[in-house]
Amino acid sequence: MAIRLPDEEDVAYAKKQILDRKKSVAVVGSIFILIVIFFTTDLYNYALIIAQPTNKPGLCPLYDPIVPKSFIKDNSTVLTILNDESFRLQSVQKLANAVQVDTQIGDDQPDVDEAPELWEQFKGFHAYLEKTFPTIYAELEVEYVNTYGLVFTWKGINTGLKPVLLTAHQDVVPVQKDTLDHWTYPPFSGHYDGKFIYGRGSSDCKNVLIAILESIELLIEKGFTPSRTVIAAFGFDEEASGRRGAYHIGKHLEKKFGKDSIYAILDEGPGLTLDPISGQIIASPATGEKGYTDIIVELTTPGGHSSVPPDHTSIGIISELGYFIEKDQYGPIFSAKNPLLQYLQCIAVNSDKVPILTKKAILRAAFDKFARSKIVESLTKNPITKYLIQTSQAIDIIKGGEKANALPENVKLTVNHRISVETRVVEIHEHFTKRVIEVAKRHGLDVVSFGKTVFKGDGKSGTFIISSPQALESAPVSPANDTVWKYIAASTRHVFEDVVFTNLTYPIIVAPVVMPANTDTRHYWDLTRNIYRYSPFFATDFKDSHIHSVDERLEFDGHLQLLAFFYEYIQNIDTSKADN
Ligand SMILES: *[C@@H]1O[C@H](CO)[C@@H](O)[C@H](O)[C@H]1NC(C)=O
Ligand SMILES: *[C@@H]1O[C@H](CO)[C@@H](O)[C@H](O)[C@H]1NC(C)=O
Ligand SMILES: *[C@@H]1O[C@H](CO)[C@@H](O)[C@H](O)[C@H]1NC(C)=O
Ligand SMILES: [Zn+2]
Repeated sequence: MAIRLPDEEDVAYAKKQILDRKKSVAVVGSIFILIVIFFTTDLYNYALIIAQPTNKPGLCPLYDPIVPKSFIKDNSTVLTILNDESFRLQSVQKLANAVQVDTQIGDDQPDVDEAPELWEQFKGFHAYLEKTFPTIYAELEVEYVNTYGLVFTWKGINTGLKPVLLTAHQDVVPVQKDTLDHWTYPPFSGHYDGKFIYGRGSSDCKNVLIAILESIELLIEKGFTPSRTVIAAFGFDEEASGRRGAYHIGKHLEKKFGKDSIYAILDEGPGLTLDPISGQIIASPATGEKGYTDIIVELTTPGGHSSVPPDHTSIGIISELGYFIEKDQYGPIFSAKNPLLQYLQCIAVNSDKVPILTKKAILRAAFDKFARSKIVESLTKNPITKYLIQTSQAIDIIKGGEKANALPENVKLTVNHRISVETRVVEIHEHFTKRVIEVAKRHGLDVVSFGKTVFKGDGKSGTFIISSPQALESAPVSPANDTVWKYIAASTRHVFEDVVFTNLTYPIIVAPVVMPANTDTRHYWDLTRNIYRYSPFFATDFKDSHIHSVDERLEFDGHLQLLAFFYEYIQNIDTSKADN
């Protein structure tokens, strides 16, 4: 065999081979790097989201509308409530006149027995109700609980059915004197401009109270006789935590009917609005409430003349604590215990207007940490949704110091917390105590937390005392998947799809939410698990009602929708089929 020297062709061939090998090494290398990237970065997690199917059978079913027999026979009453001009005007009068009776209450009023004169305004309100709803006063049992709490009982003929409890409160928050000139119409005018009713209480929540009574009165007039007992109960100090009103009403009802004796409670709360994710009208009963605690920390240090001060006075030290507290914000917690997760799921599975990746991420959020972190990221961008999943803390009061030339011996800080549904009050108290101890260590101070000495300082610098005048655990979360819930959802769809909005191109999704604040229902936990803070009427923007501020008002269409809802709901649940 002749030996041949490599020619150009061979050289080219060899070069190509080397190049090919390099290429394949490069390809293998890149694949390897890609795999590493895929598993060490979020790409894998994103891929899981992309692969997530969007149907989840059984998750948040849409319940078909349920229609009362009376509506099928003759729908004219409901149509009159919603569309008849003269019905509207007499209803305007009922609410406007209710607003005109001033039922403001302050935060620290003494009890009814101690200072009867402070509560007498409620006599006027009762007289107004009695004059306005004579049929109710004639037909129903009326009880006065702790003098001004009102309980109306409309006895059903079937004692086997648990009573339903509809609630609202008679009191309103005070109007601040220095805001009086800012009101378009005086706060107790009940002025109606053809669209809105103005005044304190017009939307928080004499509207709910009057709508409940109007619906009952109308049902009596139309000859309805309930099988299921209907109770309407109205506290008179909800805005001051309900200790005199709802607390006593809760005890009274428990004594009369027993623990867990109530079918469902509907109290003031959210209703129907445009959901920002889907752009659709969504109904959202609140099935939970965040917890609450005010913590007071008081610091006492030796006094003295300001010409020879210590490096840090009590005011300086408590400021340091305040700074430290604000630097240490609570983080978001988002678990299945928070109704907000179900809210998002309900929209994800039932609306086709949600962007597909958002939908998939929501559906994975229940079990996939990464998907959940993406949802949390977007929820925390908006302060309103942020505080549905995070404990809030606000330093609201600071008091201390007397004189420019005397060292402050005593200073007090009050910090308000709204506690996430997953967290208990005691955890907040313990965490707060730890922060105080940190500061105490730097200044040789003692710390007494809830009556116990938890840190010993140098014995001469002073003492922190931590206490809490108010604390409430987050409310037990009410079911949003049982028959009681189904009847709320189905009645909502009936009223709002059949009558209020007749041209909707999609079904109304009813999805639970959590409230960052508390209602009178805090005193009713033992009466039933099925507590819904829900006032079903449509409002494009709830801020538009200026609750608790200047120009509180109510778009009157909403009042009529609420009345129509109660009218239909009471009939729909008047059967054992509505029981769990
Ligand atoms: C409803 O949900 C709760 C909690 O998620 C669950 O324990 C219960 O089994 C569900 N009930 C029904 C009837 O699906
Ligand atoms: C009300 O009843 C009338 C007569 O039966 C019917 O024509 C109409 O469509 C009904 N309206 C609604 C909103 O159901
Ligand atoms: C339904 O009708 C109302 C007026 O009655 C209108 O404002 C609204 O845009 C309509 N909605 C749809 C989806 O067509
Ligand atoms: Zn209220």
